[in-house]
Amino acid sequence: MIRHEYLSETQASYRRNLEGVERRTARSIASGRAARAVSRLVKVSVVVHVIFRREVENISDAQVKSQIDVLNRDFRAKNPDRSQAPAVWKSLVADANIEFALATRDPNGKATDGITRTKTTRTSFLPDDSMKTAAGGHAPWPARRYLNIWVCNLGQNLLGYAQFPGGPAKTDGVVILGSAFGTKGTAAAPFNLGRTATHEVGHWLNLRHIWADTLGCGGSDFVSDTPNQAGPNTGKPAFPHLSCTNGPNGDMFMNYMDYVDDVAMVMFTPGQVARMNACLADIRGGLGR
Ligand code: ARG
Ligand code: ZN
Ligand code: CA
Repeated sequence: MIRHEYLSETQASYRRNLEGVERRTARSIASGRAARAVSRLVKVSVVVHVIFRREVENISDAQVKSQIDVLNRDFRAKNPDRSQAPAVWKSLVADANIEFALATRDPNGKATDGITRTKTTRTSFLPDDSMKTAAGGHAPWPARRYLNIWVCNLGQNLLGYAQFPGGPAKTDGVVILGSAFGTKGTAAAPFNLGRTATHEVGHWLNLRHIWADTLGCGGSDFVSDTPNQAGPNTGKPAFPHLSCTNGPNGDMFMNYMDYVDDVAMVMFTPGQVARMNACLADIRGGLGR
């Protein structure tokens, strides 16, 4: 959100783009195009840019693959822990019908394993997109063809951050802290189930935080089947947790777009799935097809 506010303040084109993105998203959902997109399986080509200073930060191929596996479970509602969703919301556990695969061709058409590895002198990065430049990091592969994921060390206790659709192509993608990436190697509890990337890819596909990033209850995440919620939840909350007169069921804190521990987040809703597919079909047009 800090990066989003910075771009909003400094770039009028970003503000205009986001308004356009919301108009097109609303139209896509209202016209049924988003629903039709949900019914088609979309495959997104992924490149993971590993940016490391110390050798332990140069995470293994196996750790990278473990993250791709999590994305493929979570975005197909095949994650076994979806059974944790409370009975009242079981019917809202939604399959986004989106799959992810490490790229097999680089932008020049050459065979690749979909992983780049770059040595840096930086001990850690701020959420200022500097890991996305050749100075200290690695430039993205074309955003219209790939989901770019940078894995690096991050300051400010950040687990990761994402750019919303409508942002500059040269910084498009998501950034994940190495120790919150995947399920093995350097992945560390309580963020070792790969859910940081699930959450950030949700943002990359135009999802907002479930509490709408506002203090109080006036904001919206632009999704009607997620309850209004006053603020972020953390750790492992007990159901129900009430706010914003959203009883009896309260906050949907087990949603991927809250801030709970990896073990506690298990679902997207149909409303969120429609937004993500509207994004792929009508905003990131072409990607995944
Ligand atoms: N951008 C959020 C942060 O840095 C990511 C939260 C992800 N939550 C999780 N349980 N993995 O705090
Ligand atoms: Zn977030
Ligand atoms: Ca909502």
